[in-house]
Amino acid sequence: DRPARRAARARPLLAPALALALLGAGCTGGVHGTPGAAGLRDPYFPGLGNGGYDVTHYGLTLDVDPAADRLRGTARITARATQDLSAFHLDLFGLDVERATVEGRPAAVNRAGKELTLRPAAEVEERLREGRTFTAVVRYAGSPRTVTDAEGEEEGWLRTADGAVALGEPTGSMAWFPGNHHPSDKAAYDVEITVPEGLTAVSNGELVSRRTVDGRAVHRWRTAEPMASHLATVAVGRFRTRQSVTADGIRLFTAVDPASAVASEEVLDRIPAVLAWSAKKFGPYPFRSAGAVVERKGDSSYALETQNRPVFPGPPGIRLLVHELAHQWFGNSVTPAAWRDVWLNEGFATYAEWLWAADHEGAPVEESFAAAYADDRNWAFPPAGPPAAVDLFDPPVYGRGAMVVHRVRLAVDDDRAFFALVRGWTKAHRHGNASTGDFTAYVEEKTGRDLTELWDAWLYGTSRPPAD
Ligand code: ARG
Ligand code: ZN
Repeated sequence: DRPARRAARARPLLAPALALALLGAGCTGGVHGTPGAAGLRDPYFPGLGNGGYDVTHYGLTLDVDPAADRLRGTARITARATQDLSAFHLDLFGLDVERATVEGRPAAVNRAGKELTLRPAAEVEERLREGRTFTAVVRYAGSPRTVTDAEGEEEGWLRTADGAVALGEPTGSMAWFPGNHHPSDKAAYDVEITVPEGLTAVSNGELVSRRTVDGRAVHRWRTAEPMASHLATVAVGRFRTRQSVTADGIRLFTAVDPASAVASEEVLDRIPAVLAWSAKKFGPYPFRSAGAVVERKGDSSYALETQNRPVFPGPPGIRLLVHELAHQWFGNSVTPAAWRDVWLNEGFATYAEWLWAADHEGAPVEESFAAAYADDRNWAFPPAGPPAAVDLFDPPVYGRGAMVVHRVRLAVDDDRAFFALVRGWTKAHRHGNASTGDFTAYVEEKTGRDLTELWDAWLYGTSRPPAD
């Protein structure tokens, strides 16, 4: 199916430009902004994200009917213009747009591939001047499409036996709401989900309210801390839910498919302990809520560190739990500036597993390092340079990423100083974005050393350096 997919990708390149030219023909004098870019030039996904604005808040109102396989949504997007805008793009895959307004006025809508273009009415265009905050509302509906990513993994909106689950790393989120779907644009979220009575709808953040209206269950979830859109989730189905508060005041909410309940109970009971252990290593837990969603085996192909509440495709083992919870610091609070930097997520989350094994399983970190070092799959490419999108979640990003972290520890040569460095990193970029260059500059600044050789050998090098 590759040539077909390539064709599908190529199509949107021309169409939006044409559409904008056509829409622009109707423009008569006054303020003149320019259209925001259709993508952020991420080398792996050039069309992902959009230029000219920065989303501060998503208000999503979703009505999910699993039996009819239908989603109806209203996305209320609050954004700040970063240029004078005459039009702007949103990423949306599949679904029909019924209506859109910008600043309360009907906007001209164009669809071309994964690009949705909104052109505000002339009388509100000045409200999209650089620096101003504006609101766009998009009403949409349909049967959400599944996204097959470069590796052939299914994501986006996945059907389950009794509902659906939305997973979006790297590009699936555009299958269920329009937005600026690049990790560099983080925003707060309010998600309201209406489902048939008897089903539960779980999302990120805190459950604000749950009520029954006309025989339907309305759930309101709020994520106040900034969140990258690939970390947004909605899980609809029959779940056993549990709520509690940890000794540190973190609110826990777990939702487990009944088929997975017995097998996941023990490991989920360890969430507070894993969070407390992680906080000692990585710094204070960055969010007010935590938890997990455990689906039935096979409901999704991968586990994902969806913010606050990772999604597991079946009962997780303790190492996977440690991994996904570590992502709350590495990936979710400190988010890659671009997809190239994803080793900062996976390298640290893998290193967290090594640290866990050292503290709880009697396996020294050196042993984990040696095993990763010996594994040929880790040497296919450098962690800071996956050759293509298909490689973004391959072993070098995980195993060799963790080796980079360990080499930094060896260079620091003092465990207290090393963990202070790690906590300083999560603090410096808390709720923000960071690149590989930010990381190497940070480490060099804190250690006061030129570590060019370390980076060249372990982070950028194409061959296996001597382990010495
Ligand atoms: N970040 C996830 C994890 O390691 C993996 C996501 C994999 N995504 C993919 N398209 N293969 O916890
Ligand atoms: Zn991971």
